[in-house]
Amino acid sequence: MTIVVNMRTGVDPRKIRIAARFILNGKLVAFPTETVYGLGADALNPDAVKRIFEAKGRPPDNPLIIHIADFRDLKRVARDIPKEAKLLAEKFWPGPLTMVLPKADEVPPVTTGGLDTVAVRMPAHPIALALIKASTPVAAPSANISGKPSPTSADHVVDDFYGRIEVIIDGGETNIGVESTVIDLSSERPMLLRPGGLPLEEIEATIGPVEIHPAVKGKTVDMARAPGMKYRHYSPNAQVIVVEGPSNRVRRKIEELVREYRSMGYRVGVMAREEISADEFYFLGKTPADVARNLFKALRELDKRGVDVIIAEGIEEKGIGLAVMNRLKKASGYRVVKA
Ligand code: TXA
Ligand code: MG
Repeated sequence: MTIVVNMRTGVDPRKIRIAARFILNGKLVAFPTETVYGLGADALNPDAVKRIFEAKGRPPDNPLIIHIADFRDLKRVARDIPKEAKLLAEKFWPGPLTMVLPKADEVPPVTTGGLDTVAVRMPAHPIALALIKASTPVAAPSANISGKPSPTSADHVVDDFYGRIEVIIDGGETNIGVESTVIDLSSERPMLLRPGGLPLEEIEATIGPVEIHPAVKGKTVDMARAPGMKYRHYSPNAQVIVVEGPSNRVRRKIEELVREYRSMGYRVGVMAREEISADEFYFLGKTPADVARNLFKALRELDKRGVDVIIAEGIEEKGIGLAVMNRLKKASGYRVVKA
């Protein structure tokens, strides 16, 4: 049985205490963060964490992010914290930044997928912070079935997990819409493992140049340092095709592809920043932040409308655009068309 807790109008301390008790009893609680919804469990309880992997159908070697609400808890879950991590935490926490650091002994191996590093972040969402403060450090992947687009509303979580987890806290739609930026600070040179809500440019302005893991832009997928990268991600049922290039040409290319696929008998959906006629159309908004906010919702929604093909307008790979394009390319299985 799943309890859906309405907290759309703000933090309700009484309901938070109840949800926190579920966490402390080893149960699963989905909750909103500023990026996407998380599927939370007590990060230090191996049996509870195991249930996250089972519920999501997540491979056990893909580690989870531990969410904390207090700077002191960083030392509880990580050790040998470099000065770069301290600088970044001071500047960007709470916020959409996850840091990979050497793991503390207290963290069970299931949480980190057997790695000796741990991913940590402090989310900038009042409900998430209240829940963690009332319970314990919370391990939480995005609250979607493994491989599906991440959830940006409680409805998405209900679609994937109703009847399979104990609690879903409905805090309305998430603001950023793509997951946190993941940066590895566990060895000499900082490395971007996943672009996300916090632009790389802002991180580099704070700690200097950051290497970019080759899988971030392309599809090279080995390297144990970034275990999340080798799995299928963000995929709706429809085939996604990304169109990138100068905006004046992108529109024409999308129109051409719509005609082509329709003539082959497919139902075609388009997601773009301006209206383009197709069987189904989803407006992504105007700015890169709008596109990030609407991205996963658009993929889920077009799927619901039963299209066979989704043609998505690409955006420039800078600022939050790097995260958007990373998600879109993965969702498409790297079917990227140049306009
Ligand atoms: O915004 C977010 O980060 C959301 C919300 C709920 O906080 N969470 C999220 O978690 O996106 P998840 O599990 O969907 O993605 C975590 C990513 C995965 O790509 C995982 O492989 C990587 O972080 N990761 C976790 N621990 C790691 C580690 N020790 N070393 C390298 N990568 C790690
Ligand atoms: Mg995820």
